[in-house]
Amino acid sequence: MNEQTHVTHVVVPGTFDPVTFGHIDVIMRAHRLFPLVTVAVAASPGKNGTARTFSLDERVELIRASLEEAGMPDGIDVQPFSGLLMDFCREVGAGGVVKGLRAMTDFEYELQQADLNYRLSPGVESIFVMGSPEFGYVSSSIVRELAALGSDVDFLVPKPVAQALRRRFG
Ligand code: COA
Repeated sequence: MNEQTHVTHVVVPGTFDPVTFGHIDVIMRAHRLFPLVTVAVAASPGKNGTARTFSLDERVELIRASLEEAGMPDGIDVQPFSGLLMDFCREVGAGGVVKGLRAMTDFEYELQQADLNYRLSPGVESIFVMGSPEFGYVSSSIVRELAALGSDVDFLVPKPVAQALRRRFG
């Protein structure tokens, strides 16, 4: 039998453009299960090569500010990354990746990523938490669309994000 080690440090990855209450929920759930959580913010460009609404530095700062507002527990860290997620996990010494599942539509895509990551790094576990049903419909693109159309998004995102969106879209 392979030598087993307990996972104590996990990564919660994403692009977080911007972070929503759905993401904060997943980060907090990950922290209930594991003492050390690194939120990994991907540098990757937007879909079809489009620019992100918020720069990498802004996305990192907005997550930090949002977690602080939520009483940022010890053991949660926020870091930018570029390149392969599995390389980042190796760099920080994380033994698992935690992602949230909102609906069946997330499942197929997540399974594909988890399979690929397993091929790249079989020692890193893919762990899924069920997102709170309250935020099942929330996504970053919905938030961006509503904010760009002048709608209030305070019910979808932490205060620092709502303020940043107001500054961005006026
Ligand atoms: N609550 C709210 N929204 C959520 C959510 C949750 N729990 N989980 C996902 N979402 C939404 C996001 O808001 C985003 O919405 P949008 O498309 O409307 O903007 C969407 O789901 C996708 O999330 P995203 O953060 O872009 O994550 P992803 O699942 O596409 O994965 C990385 C992003 C960074 C983890 C992945 O691309 C990656 O690992 N990149 C590094 C390169 C690599 O290693 N590739 C090989 C492995 S796949």
